Amino acid sequence: METLSLAPFQGITDVVYRNAFKKHFRGIDKFYTPFFTGIQKDNSKSLRGEEISPEFNDVNTVVPQILSNKADEIIRFANQCKSMGYGEFNLNMGCPFPRVANKTRGCGLMADPERTIPMLTEVCEHVDGIRFSIKCRLGYYNDEEIYAFIEVFNSLNVSEIIIHPRIGKQMYNGEASLEKFIKLIPLINKPLVYNGDVFDVEKYKTVRKSVENISLGRGLLTNPFLAEEIKGIDNQKNKKTRLHGFVVDLYVERLRHAGGSPKIIGSMKELWKYMMNIFDDPQNVWRKVKKVNHIDEYETAVETVFNEQNLIL
Ligand SMILES: Cc1cc2nc3c(=O)[nH]c(=O)nc-3n(C[C@H](O)[C@H](O)[C@H](O)COP(=O)(O)O)c2cc1C
Repeated sequence: METLSLAPFQGITDVVYRNAFKKHFRGIDKFYTPFFTGIQKDNSKSLRGEEISPEFNDVNTVVPQILSNKADEIIRFANQCKSMGYGEFNLNMGCPFPRVANKTRGCGLMADPERTIPMLTEVCEHVDGIRFSIKCRLGYYNDEEIYAFIEVFNSLNVSEIIIHPRIGKQMYNGEASLEKFIKLIPLINKPLVYNGDVFDVEKYKTVRKSVENISLGRGLLTNPFLAEEIKGIDNQKNKKTRLHGFVVDLYVERLRHAGGSPKIIGSMKELWKYMMNIFDDPQNVWRKVKKVNHIDEYETAVETVFNEQNLIL
């Protein structure tokens, strides 16, 4: 069955975003969390918050992700996820930031198969009762590095491989290569998920010709109606009102979580950097939003945007 998922974004697609999204929009079958780190103990702090608690997350559709290079930490995370009822956890082998990758974490794992393959093997030997999926790129330094992992992907009990077909050194520059992704399809015997640069229905249809499962990232942050459009859900009515409802709910919930701290304006701005592009004058939206630092200024800026501008959707 084809699956449409939301790719994780550290600092944006937290539990508050995911739940607000689900309340206001349809079309996403699966949500990967931004990565968790620091799982030194079974009751590590990051395992005790709302971000992972089954009280706030639907364990059937949310997939917690870990960033780690230690088999014991990954196994601990898997077991904790399993005990909370999750059906799947995910390993991040894609994060390209030098401070992560230089420590052989995230995409850095791809540049060091001698270390990474035994780690993956050990994880698979010790984890059962929960599906183990991996998110990776084509490589860190070059797009051939993934080939060193194909045998291990095929032989280990990995449930799914999400490939974002760029290399780590590219960060988010240049285009994701659908062509290079397609070359890998016949070589990997696990369900594959495509991720990268799906910004509209047309691009989705092009990718969908080669693969069933697609993970939407910036395309969905920019246009939260994208999954509905892809699935042909009739949504032509009240788009602006619905978007406004989502933006307000997200903000109010973030504020509540942060005990009223204006710090959350930062994460709202991160989202607006993407979302501004569905308004008729994006630069004008950004000018209004980027300069605000206080709660009342933020609220006024958002109301002005919704009053003055229309969606281009
Ligand atoms: C600000 C930011 C934070 C991200 N955080 C994560 C993360 O926590 N885990 C992860 O696997 N990918 C992360 N990503 C990568 C995205 O999930 C996605 O793979 C990438 O944006 C490519 O897909 P897209 O072209 O559809 O956006 C992040 C990307 C950005 C720009």
